[in-house]
Amino acid sequence: MKAIKIKEGIYWVGAIDWDLRNFHGYITQRGATYNAFLIIDEKITLIDTVKHYCTDEMIARISSIVDPSKIDYIVSNHVEMDHSGGLPRILELAPQACIYTSPNGEKGLRAHYKKEWNFHSIKPNEELNLGTKTISFAPTPMVHWPDNMVTYLKEDKILFSNDAFGQHIATTERFDDEIPNDILFEEAAKYYANIVLPYGKQVQKAMDAISGLDIEIIAPSHGVVWRSKIPQILEEYKKWAANETENTAAIIYDTMWNSTEKIAYAIQAAFENKNINTKMLNLRHNHISDIMTYVLTAKYVCVGSPTINNNMLPTAAAFLTYLKGLAPKNRTGLAFGSYGWGGQSIPHIDNALKECGFDMWEMVKINYIPEEKQLEEITQKIENLLP
Ligand code: FEO
Repeated sequence: MKAIKIKEGIYWVGAIDWDLRNFHGYITQRGATYNAFLIIDEKITLIDTVKHYCTDEMIARISSIVDPSKIDYIVSNHVEMDHSGGLPRILELAPQACIYTSPNGEKGLRAHYKKEWNFHSIKPNEELNLGTKTISFAPTPMVHWPDNMVTYLKEDKILFSNDAFGQHIATTERFDDEIPNDILFEEAAKYYANIVLPYGKQVQKAMDAISGLDIEIIAPSHGVVWRSKIPQILEEYKKWAANETENTAAIIYDTMWNSTEKIAYAIQAAFENKNINTKMLNLRHNHISDIMTYVLTAKYVCVGSPTINNNMLPTAAAFLTYLKGLAPKNRTGLAFGSYGWGGQSIPHIDNALKECGFDMWEMVKINYIPEEKQLEEITQKIENLLP
């Protein structure tokens, strides 16, 4: 396994996790990478590491360039174990290496690994001279944990952005212009929707913090390195962080005897009649992490479930819990469903969407099986609410 050159003296030495299909609940159909980078200068510097079970791969890639025991500095941009899991092994090989990390990074790494490593907590505006190259740091708290920071390599104009601008794709291609654009941006959006979405304000602050930098390359800790499409991904992040939506609807539902599904299609017809694109997202067939990719930009979020045991179906409850945590804003919501007697599922969904801060339309409830006339009325009612 070899290192891959990013620029003269700068190498990708990460790992490709081809088999990963679930990243703490987020379905990663295309696998993932954990990106670590090696800077060869008078001082040898490793930026981040990889998940613990990928450490051999990282060490092999480093060893193709330099003996890992020669590493002088390790920059830890983020404590989460997909980036710090390789630290114990690399520090066994290079015990003298100094770990440059944020104050919260030091706290987090100590709490995770209980080791008296050679830590250096970065002070505001601190720079680190590597010989001919210089790195600086900018805190980016909550993108994705309180400890997060980004590292900037001045002379080469490279931003090592850690989780920001990542995508979960297992690939041997290393650059944004080497993989199809639709896959690249779909995975970047899915990543944002499932990992970064709750932290829009912090993303805006992070974007401000890096706005003064001259950036030629963004090297995130997951997926491919951005070199050709930097303005496009920055523009997407700007929109996503501001919770800007498109005129589209996500209709998310589960159904017991197809009555709630019939209501879902009646709602869909209203959007279609108004030329508003919709996505029908049956919770039996769509994973909640994929649904979030559509919710990321959908102005209308409609959620339906029949009533079962005085509540909604567990698939709908799981989705709503996930949605609330990811906290999208500026949406219009609608709760709908069929019921036999109690009908509690629909107000429960309505409350859950209200707790997300959505502007709610009046709920749609149908007893048992909707008649054709009732379905037409639902379509008409929703159509009347639309501009
Ligand atoms: Fe890729 Fe927050 O770790």
